Amino acid sequence: MNMTSLPKHIAIIMDGNGRWSKKRLMPRNVGHLMGASNLRAIVRACIEKHILHLTVFAFSTENWRRPPEEVATLFDLFVRYLKSEIGELQAQGIRLKVIGDHSAFPKELHDQIDAACALTAQGQVLTLTVAINYGGKWDILQAMQAWQRAHPYENLDQLSQEQLTPYLATHPLPEPDLLIRTGGESRLSNFLIWQSAYTELYFTDLLWPDFDAKALQMALDSYAQRVRRFGKTDEQVQSLGAAKKGITST
Ligand code: IPE
Ligand code: IPE
Ligand code: MG
Repeated sequence: MNMTSLPKHIAIIMDGNGRWSKKRLMPRNVGHLMGASNLRAIVRACIEKHILHLTVFAFSTENWRRPPEEVATLFDLFVRYLKSEIGELQAQGIRLKVIGDHSAFPKELHDQIDAACALTAQGQVLTLTVAINYGGKWDILQAMQAWQRAHPYENLDQLSQEQLTPYLATHPLPEPDLLIRTGGESRLSNFLIWQSAYTELYFTDLLWPDFDAKALQMALDSYAQRVRRFGKTDEQVQSLGAAKKGITST
């Protein structure tokens, strides 16, 4: 296997739960339940495929606009996931990280998140980051505010992109190599907007509960075909690739 064509970090916008249930004339909650169970399967598939970091969008800062009953169900599911999955996460060597604006969360939820993250902190196989009440715009702003708090005597003019990075919620994860969005929409919906500046995007019409290991493999195959130039020319990228393989051009 050519490891350079394998993404280290995959981000997923798990979209389409509502439409999945609508197609089956079932309440939206059923779709969310199926979505949560699909996350389990995709985490396993990522481990089998040697992915090191998986970051998933579970609830956006804009999802508060949904009916309160749906918001309550989503949080209930999240709490249940935290409780029921910890043993499994530990057994599989998964390190859990939860990111987002948690300032308004009740203390009990804070404590549950902290406990779950602490219990899985030794996981070395895969980092699973769940974004809850996360927004890319929130992340950039909170990072700048945190930088300013840490450097009270410095002016914002002195802040560089590199200096901001450690304050982003995703730190110390590398930037995502591949971002998958299920559910047929071609937008980021305020997910990792800073971190995805050079991420390869993959959109599929499959609804999240239907996105399985085979679909993941299709996304990985698509990724393996991409030429990541990072602003360089094709020639520069090719000579860099050749140098990495130990081939020197004559
Ligand atoms: C994604 O599925 C889950 C969350 C946003 C929490 P949706 O609930 O957005 O499903 P659709 O887009 O309505 O089908
Ligand atoms: C994005 O899905 C958020 C999550 C998957 C958590 P949405 O369904 O909320 O996105 P929009 O509103 O269609 O852009
Ligand atoms: Mg949606």
